[in-house]
This record gives sequence, C-alpha cells and structure tokens, in this order.
Amino acid sequence: MVTEFLPAPASRLKKLPTYVFAELDEMKEAAHKRGADLIELGMGNPDLSTPKPIIEEIQKAVARPENHRYPLFKGKPAFREAVAAWMDRRYGVSIDPETEVQALIGSKEGLGHLTFAYIEPGDYSLVPSPYYPVHSRATWLAGGEVLHLPLTPENAFLPDLDSIPSEIAAKAKLFFVSYPNNPTTAIAPLSFYEKLVDYCKRHSIVLVSDLAYGEICFEGYRPPSIFNVPGAKSIAVEFHSFSKSFNMAGWRVGFAAGNPQVIKTLYSLKTNLDYGVASAIQDGAIYALNHGESFLDEINATYQQRRDVVINGFRSLGWTVEPTKGTLYVWLPIPERFENSKAWCKYLLDEVDVLITPGIAFGDAGDRFFRVSLVSDVPVLEKAIARLQAKGIRFQG
Ligand SMILES: Cc1ncc(COP(=O)(O)O)c(C=O)c1O
Repeated sequence: MVTEFLPAPASRLKKLPTYVFAELDEMKEAAHKRGADLIELGMGNPDLSTPKPIIEEIQKAVARPENHRYPLFKGKPAFREAVAAWMDRRYGVSIDPETEVQALIGSKEGLGHLTFAYIEPGDYSLVPSPYYPVHSRATWLAGGEVLHLPLTPENAFLPDLDSIPSEIAAKAKLFFVSYPNNPTTAIAPLSFYEKLVDYCKRHSIVLVSDLAYGEICFEGYRPPSIFNVPGAKSIAVEFHSFSKSFNMAGWRVGFAAGNPQVIKTLYSLKTNLDYGVASAIQDGAIYALNHGESFLDEINATYQQRRDVVINGFRSLGWTVEPTKGTLYVWLPIPERFENSKAWCKYLLDEVDVLITPGIAFGDAGDRFFRVSLVSDVPVLEKAIARLQAKGIRFQG
C-alpha cells in the first residue's frame, strides 16, 4: 500500500541495480499461478537435509537453559575452538580461537558487515566479476565504489592484478575473491593466492577470501585456504559457511577467521548491530565441525552425480562443457540466438517450465551465461534435460 505518511527510504537503496533473485521469485510465482510443473534450478539453496546427528544435537541444545540467554558476540569458546581445530585438520592452518575467529549469522552477514566496517565514500572494493551479489552491493550500500575485474575463460576466471589502475589500488580497502567460484565454478591455484597476498600487502588492502564452497569439491580436488600462503594472515580474512558444507542454509551460521585486527574490526561493528548466532545452533555447528568429514563424502558424491547428469545433458544439446571441480553449480553460455541471459531464462520458464539463474544476476559480465544449481535429485535433473531435448533446444541454431 502506498501512503503519504511514510518518509522516503534512504537514497542508498535506490542506487542498487535490481536484485535479480527477487525478480526470479516473481517469475516463479507467476509460473506457479498458471499451474506449471516447475523444476527449480535457480537459487543455490541446498535441497538435501541437514545430517540427522547435527539436527539431534541442536534438538538437545535447544532444551539447555544456558542456551536461552544472549549468546557471546564472538561465539562460544567451544565454537571458536572447534573452528580452530577444523582449520588445522582440514587446511593445515593455525588459527587462534581467542583472537582470530568470529561467529557469523551466515557468511553473507559477515561479508556485508565487514564491508560496512571498512568502506566509506571515496573508498574502493576490488571485485572479480561475475560476482556473488553481496561482494559488490555492500560496498555500494556503504557509499563506496567497486572496480570489477573481469573473469573470462581466457584468464581462467582469475582476475588480472596488472589491470588494476594504481590510483584505484591506492583507494582500495577490500579485495574480494571466492574460489571455488560462484557462479563460474572456477578454482584458484595456490600460485594465484600467492600473487594476491603479495598484491594486497603492497597496497594495504584487506584480502577477503570467501570460501563458501571450500568443502564442496569432487574427484580428490581440495581447495586451498588463503592461509596456506605463508604470511597471508597479515592482511587476509576468510569466510566459511555451514550452508553448503552441511546443508545448514536455514540455520544461519558461519564464521570468519584470520587477521586479528580485521576480526576485531568486524566484531566491533557487529556488537552494535546484532547479538550473534543462537547458542543452540552454535552447538549444532560445533558437532558439524567435529564430525564434518563423515558427512562431506556423501554430500559431495551426491553433487558429483548430479553434476554429471547436467553436464552430459547439456553436452547432448551441443554445449561444450568441462566437468567442474567444486561448487553446486554448472555455468554455461546462453545459446547464441538469445539477446541476453534474462531472455533465455524467460524462454526456458515459459516453454519448458525450468527455472535457471540468468548470469546477469551476478553483474553485467555474466549476461551471456546462465547458472544451473544442482539442488534437485537426479530424476528431476534428467526430467529437466529431457524437456529441453523434447523442445529441440540446441546451443547453436
Ligand atoms: C560465494 C558465496 N558466499 C557466501 C554465501 C552466503 O552463504 P551463507 O548462507 O553462509 O550466508 C553464498 C551463498 O550462496 C555464496 O554463494
């Protein structure tokens, strides 16, 4: 309802490009209204349930009175210790649970708040593009500028550090990277991280590594942590999420680990705005970390099987696509005859009742691509491919 009684929202909200995922929601609703048998491969919202032992741990934790009070801002000591032990076991990285860990209400929350803790008008964030929306949007909301660094097949989806103008590097405070990458699924070799750490040190930039897909990896590939680069802790902070690793997207829990000064800055901002992660959920997260490896093999085997169905399916339709090494996505070019990614997305929705994410959702650089999320089981993915085949959809022609 539009009313004359309310003041205008802050102008910073108007400066943002439309959030394509909200538009997708509207398209989805319209499809449901016309009775479509919709196959949703849009959002990266895991369909698998949280492993049962984690749920049971949370159920027990909910009943404990000590969990009914305000949580500690930083996260429980046991949570931070479990994080440190996990980082050591999984990545061979040493993290001080006292000063180098911050519990988060999901990593998106932390990425957004870290940006507000550093960026003010005139400052820059460096963001490889296409990008996960909060990497750019939080900077815009904070009144800063973003320099997008194109990720293309030609540069193996790694940003070209030499292309950054020195006057912008001088104004940059944050450099966001995220590998395995959403949406492109690219991975980064340690040699790239070494160059990046050196670059950020030379220009006094906080290196923000978003490792949301650090545990979703296939065929023996294991993504490195930024802290596998010696000395990275002098400028880097890494964001981890339980959402994809343990199918805990709905519980809202993650953590940041790394440089103690950066962690303290994030902590100071958060103490003003929230009360941290619900204690019972932290208990579930502790359980997930302490028993993590036993869940991951099964979760990753499931995604790998789904990946193969989607990749082989699109190959049968004329696409050239290599198997991905991580993430729960497949990133593909749109057929040449379509004007842009939204037109292709609308066509698929109208003609075969399949919802994908148009690449424009990840910025202009994504507009000739689309992303398929592996968030339905194999028979549903096969059905989606069969619908495209029946419609005679081909990459070319
Ligand atoms: C690259 C990336 N970072 C962060 C997030 C947010 O994760 P969380 O659920 O921990 O907030 C996502 C979610 O899709 C993501 O793709």
